Amino acid sequence: MTSFSGSFPATRLRRNRRTPWLRDLVRENTLTVADLIWPIFVIDGKDKTEAISSMPGVQRYSIDLAVKAAKEAASLGIPMIALFPNTDPKLRTEDGAEALNPENIVCRAVRAIKKEVPEIGIMCDVALDPYTSHGHDGLMANGRILNDESVAVLAKQAVVQAQAGCDVIAPSDMMDGRIGAIRSALDAATLQDVAIMAYSAKYASGFYGPFREAVGSGGLLVGDKRTYQMDGGNTDEALREVAMDIAEGADMVMVKPGMPYLDIVSRVKREFSVPTFAYQVSGEYAMLMAAIERGWLDSNKVVTESLLAFKRAGADGVLTYFALDVAKNLSA
Ligand code: PBG
Repeated sequence: MTSFSGSFPATRLRRNRRTPWLRDLVRENTLTVADLIWPIFVIDGKDKTEAISSMPGVQRYSIDLAVKAAKEAASLGIPMIALFPNTDPKLRTEDGAEALNPENIVCRAVRAIKKEVPEIGIMCDVALDPYTSHGHDGLMANGRILNDESVAVLAKQAVVQAQAGCDVIAPSDMMDGRIGAIRSALDAATLQDVAIMAYSAKYASGFYGPFREAVGSGGLLVGDKRTYQMDGGNTDEALREVAMDIAEGADMVMVKPGMPYLDIVSRVKREFSVPTFAYQVSGEYAMLMAAIERGWLDSNKVVTESLLAFKRAGADGVLTYFALDVAKNLSA
């Protein structure tokens, strides 16, 4: 596509910026509530919330309160929530077996929310890190993360979550071949209508720190995730990851983190024209909130600006911890 501009003085680009109605009229990209996916952290217990020190304003909810939160999100028009468990440390094991327990926190939360708030979509992460004693997303042996053995477990985890009622399975583990294996496993379990949003281009990032506090895996993590998450220097590799995930059956793809990787969002959307999402991750949230709390940045301006950037880059939607606040502002 080419854009055409005349020259000054016949053309004055400020003319279209003169008034609010004119700016509204010519705006190319907008942020709406339908663009938002809200991640929610879930814990055991009843009528209980817990603060997360590195994510001011974000809380972990017991399932009954997660249901309430989901209800509020649905009433504001948020299309989907993403559930993440903080598992009791006693249930975290070398093999992450709790991930396959149909009575684990996530599965119970999915069933409770589906029952009370059927109108909202539910997405669940597929990865073992909330369940392993070493904090890794896959199985570990001799200090290495096993690929094919992990994929076999992750496919089972996906089926367990889908059977609980999850609408969108989101593999965040970055093992090779997991999308195909998960698609086959879902289909074999007659769960053909359950969608997959692949964390396709997920980088090994320092911006996940606060999330790891939220799910309680940070202190446990042995080493780092660089042998499976992507290297921050790479772009072409992201396109190969996305191409493979689409070929293996992904319905939607995701780039993560968001703001530091907007070039990847843009390139993925342009090259593949598939539903593309970005995750404004915990560290991005923490960074903005730290400055907002000090009065250095104005939240009314920077939060929507940070999200509009994803739309401009081509994202069809954004996972963001600001979702509820933004939805309230958009409907105000
Ligand atoms: C787990 C997972 C992570 C995030 C989503 N799923 C962290 C990680 O890979 O260590 C990050 C989300 C965030 O930082 O907000 N596989």
